[in-house]
Amino acid sequence: MVEVRSKHVMSRETLRIPGPTPVPPEVVAAMGREMISHRGAEFRAFYLELLGLARRAHRTEGDVLIWPGSGSAGWESVVVNLFSPGDQVLATVCGDFGHRFAGVAETFGLDVERLEVPWGRAITPGAVGEALARRPGTKAVLVAYNETSTALTNPLPEIAAVVREHGALVVVDAVSAAGGLPLETDAWGLDVVLSGSQKAWMCPPGLLLMAIGPRAWAAHETARFPRFFWDWTAARRQAEQGMTPTTPPLSLLFGLDAALRMISQEGIEVTWARHATLGELVRVDLLGRGLRLFPDPDYASNTVTGFRPPEGIAARAVVAAVRERHGIALEAGKGAIVDSVVRLGHMGWVHEPEMRLALDAIGESVEWLVAASPPVPAATTGAGIREFG
Ligand SMILES: Cc1ncc(COP(=O)(O)O)c(C=O)c1O
Repeated sequence: MVEVRSKHVMSRETLRIPGPTPVPPEVVAAMGREMISHRGAEFRAFYLELLGLARRAHRTEGDVLIWPGSGSAGWESVVVNLFSPGDQVLATVCGDFGHRFAGVAETFGLDVERLEVPWGRAITPGAVGEALARRPGTKAVLVAYNETSTALTNPLPEIAAVVREHGALVVVDAVSAAGGLPLETDAWGLDVVLSGSQKAWMCPPGLLLMAIGPRAWAAHETARFPRFFWDWTAARRQAEQGMTPTTPPLSLLFGLDAALRMISQEGIEVTWARHATLGELVRVDLLGRGLRLFPDPDYASNTVTGFRPPEGIAARAVVAAVRERHGIALEAGKGAIVDSVVRLGHMGWVHEPEMRLALDAIGESVEWLVAASPPVPAATTGAGIREFG
């Protein structure tokens, strides 16, 4: 018998990137179940229950629909289901994911105004209100609740309130928020909330979840973009019967079911509080080691922390040192801020002991890098990136 070994398959690297996140054994076990008929009574009963769990986790009486897919698929799904070519939208951009969501809307020919702030700063409700007042007829505002690239949480309830005052739809990218940060779909008046399975939902990548409220359904009725796979009407019609329009990714659905049961058992508010405690612990620890946060500390995220590498050291060097010296995977920034921020994920199936190990690994690696690097004049680093705290 030939033994197949790949260093990737055999990797024992500990994941502390901001998604995919570690998958708990309960979820792994659930995904190992044998396949069942996706058109049979067993699946129907299972799926109706799963959709109920998903609605509760989103705090909505509206629909939550699930597709094979990812967060980016959610962006496209929103565009083709809510709009017609030329519709006006306001895309808020405070990092790479907001930038990419805006790009998808532009690709499809929407009339997109970007409200962009320096990366590391939050979108404010005041700025959103002003932008909407300047441009009557805006149909929707796109907002990343948690901008993973800068490790920043936008003040979503306040933004949503302003958007609704202006009669526009609130479309939320909650990919790195849902399941980890407080999320009140109905109480905050969110019209669409999209997320992927691979972050605080504690599952492998591969599922797109979308909460869709009544105002979004009304907009969907008149939206004229062609669509097939992502069509909300077809998905809802099937979901009402406990079915899916196409063959569902059964193993992932089994996993999501187990994960949502774990969250429900912990109590979702307790889950949110655990994330808040971990976020605080990580920030206090890093600041205590003399490191500085990348985003405005008032909006620092509780699912991912972004910190600046020491002066003269690139974020990618910190990531490499922590991986090589401790076998822990972190992530550097994206785009223009690739070497200005190191990102440490703490969402989903994570608790204090493993975060403390990661923090010690970061501390040791940073000290090692600093000892190994000649000092660099401050003026040569971080050019163009605004500093906070
Ligand atoms: C906030 C946010 N939106 C969208 C995405 C894109 O999701 P995916 O890579 O699953 O398509 C990500 C991925 O990390 C994200 O963090």
